[in-house]
Amino acid sequence: MADLLHQELRSYARDMTAALKAMSESAFSPHELKTLRSFSSGEASYYLGVADGYLRKAHHDGRIQEVEMGAGNRRKYSVAQIADIRSKLAESAHKPEQFLPGRRSSNDEMQVWAFVNFKGGSGKTSSAIHVSHALALRGYRVLVVDCDPQASITTFFGYQPELDFFDSGSLYDVIRYKDRETGAGPVPLRQIIKKSYFHNLDLAPGGIHVSEFETETPSALSRGELPVFFDKIREALKDVKDDYDIVIMDCPPQLGYVTLSAICAAQNIVMTIIPERVDMASAAQFLNMASSLTEVLHENAGVGLFDNFKFLLSRFDTNVATQVDLAEFMRELFGSAVMKSAFLKSSAVSEAGISQQTVLEVDLSAVKNRKTYERAIQSVHEITAEIEEMIQKNWGRMT
Ligand SMILES: Nc1ncnc2c1ncn2[C@@H]1O[C@H](COP(=O)(O)OP(=O)(O)OP(=O)(O)O)[C@@H](O)[C@H]1O
Ligand SMILES: [Mg+2]
Repeated sequence: MADLLHQELRSYARDMTAALKAMSESAFSPHELKTLRSFSSGEASYYLGVADGYLRKAHHDGRIQEVEMGAGNRRKYSVAQIADIRSKLAESAHKPEQFLPGRRSSNDEMQVWAFVNFKGGSGKTSSAIHVSHALALRGYRVLVVDCDPQASITTFFGYQPELDFFDSGSLYDVIRYKDRETGAGPVPLRQIIKKSYFHNLDLAPGGIHVSEFETETPSALSRGELPVFFDKIREALKDVKDDYDIVIMDCPPQLGYVTLSAICAAQNIVMTIIPERVDMASAAQFLNMASSLTEVLHENAGVGLFDNFKFLLSRFDTNVATQVDLAEFMRELFGSAVMKSAFLKSSAVSEAGISQQTVLEVDLSAVKNRKTYERAIQSVHEITAEIEEMIQKNWGRMT
């Protein structure tokens, strides 16, 4: 006799959840305890944008606080200390702006970025979390918004979405429609935002319920409920418009209502693309579909203005000749729409990813393949510098 599918699926789900829980508990303590390593003076000066010697002298002159000494009498900085030193250096600098990369007035609009592509596994989440970490270290106040029911980026914050946000607390609560029976409606974004173990980095968690937005939108549209789906995230972000410099949205691998809502909320869009033939074919389809849908939205609702649309070559393996050729082809075809830097394929990224860490979080003194990590970090820094340049330009600070 055949077995019942739903029972079989439920038992797999239960075993998988338990196994994942055990795995993440052995990789690091429960999420309340996820902590961040300290950074060397070389790293601190990189993120502060000064020379190593400048930082040493500032300590020596007593302009900035002393920090803990680690092995070999080397200074160790927490991210919060780097942020503190940033403000102190700004107070005493001739040009304080060099230490204040974030918004300086209400004229500087919060910069909203969406990482998209409906191709699964194209590196959206990995790129988004690495860039978010690097931007926070560079001194920006960053909010990560997880628009994906799979909630992969949420796990990088040490959460287990399938347990922690199963009942409530995900983005769904914010973008949901009003329940016609109970009258329960959406909550303000601020209510679900979680501070994190990473200074300057907050999270609006994702979770399985976000997928309900896809099924509920058609009937909300027919009822004429406002705001309409494409305005949901844009409206929600108004609640935190003074709290962050940058919002990074990680989208699911589909062009559904939530992705469209994220695209409509973003002034900047990064489409991650692996330089492979199949990925490019799928990207062409995504672009076609996205263009038709955004055209409808533009004609009916006037939305669709943006500052930057960039292709980011991701999981790019420069040892594979066909990938190098296709990357070159993309650059010839799209010119400056392809970011100059690429997220190179690296075993450091996948290795760190197993314990829900970015390569920036890993303590390099504990790894065997340090050079591999350094190359991956370099790649993340290059992408971030390019994104920073676009942000600064949007704020009218560079030409
Ligand atoms: N630069 C990289 N080097 C090596 N592995 C990578 C890199 N970027 C991503 N990966 C790995 O590829 C897999 C898919 O990446 P990721 O989750 O970022 O893709 P995604 O586009 O967000 O996927 P989805 O469509 O399911 O949301 C992950 O296992 C990740 O660790
Ligand atoms: Mg993803």
